[in-house]
Amino acid sequence: MSFSLFGRSLLTLLDFTPEEIKHLLKLAGKIKAESKKGKVQKRFQGKTLAMIFEKRSTRTRCAFETAFGEEGGYPVFLSTSDIQLGAKESLEDTARVLGRMFSAIQFRGFKQETAETLAKYSGVPVYNGLTDLYHPTQALADLLTLEENFGDVRGKTLCYIGDGRNNVAHSLMIICAKLGVNVTIITPPELNPEDDLCQKVNALAKISGANIGVTSDINAVKDADALYTDVWVSMGEEDKKEERVKLLSPYQVNQKLMEKTGKKETIFLHCLPAVKGEEVTADVIDGAQSRAWDQAENRKHTIKAVMLATLVK
Ligand code: CP
Ligand code: NVA
Repeated sequence: MSFSLFGRSLLTLLDFTPEEIKHLLKLAGKIKAESKKGKVQKRFQGKTLAMIFEKRSTRTRCAFETAFGEEGGYPVFLSTSDIQLGAKESLEDTARVLGRMFSAIQFRGFKQETAETLAKYSGVPVYNGLTDLYHPTQALADLLTLEENFGDVRGKTLCYIGDGRNNVAHSLMIICAKLGVNVTIITPPELNPEDDLCQKVNALAKISGANIGVTSDINAVKDADALYTDVWVSMGEEDKKEERVKLLSPYQVNQKLMEKTGKKETIFLHCLPAVKGEEVTADVIDGAQSRAWDQAENRKHTIKAVMLATLVK
């Protein structure tokens, strides 16, 4: 099937068909193989990327900046203390101006609406590098990592344990539901994923054949092919630390939980950064079953794939 993603934004994976997501993952695999061979290309020559960060980042910033820059593109890092972003100038006007100077915009921040407004008024592709609601480029790297370990991922089962209503959990549910990967979100009821999203994801799962479940029972990890966790306190929620530690302490991923899957080959995933000793123990994340470091590397290859598909004809 031949189709083009040229000119598209990536605000949420809900906007992408399963075929389009598979196309991006295939391209990312090709980019990774080329990079391992040391192939040097200049596919972003003459292009510019505005990288707006309201929240901190190591992986996302470095992935966008190196992927774009090493291929001849010119990335510009803009923290909110550097530019007007709704302060003194409306967001719409900032978007209009950035659209005149940049080929594309990466946005990491709080509101999903900010990413949507940037896309609407800039007229150039906008990439969501994490909002309170979604983390789509992370989910692409997660699926590439699953494919590297299992080949065909359809029918495999991933259990996400922890804060079930955060950006990472939401985007994982979407991508898995689209690609036919079974997902169980294991979380206390207070942190269940958004209802509205669950409805959308269940409709997608009906088409792909994926099973999507939400439970507070930690024993649901039985037979899982992958266990995934994320921080208990996401950026912007620092005041909830005490409450989260209380709620999520029974949901730590440790060696005992890995063993509960009943499978020696179960892999461990984490989007990073990790708080070792909270959501995961050091022996698990630093151990033989962990693929967290491959996942981090895959951020770069998948992000390059998104930019290539949407920016280069
Ligand atoms: N996983 C991830 O998004 O990492 P950063 O916050 O370091 O970008
Ligand atoms: N849920 C985390 C993800 C960090 C990559 C956060 O939003 O802080």
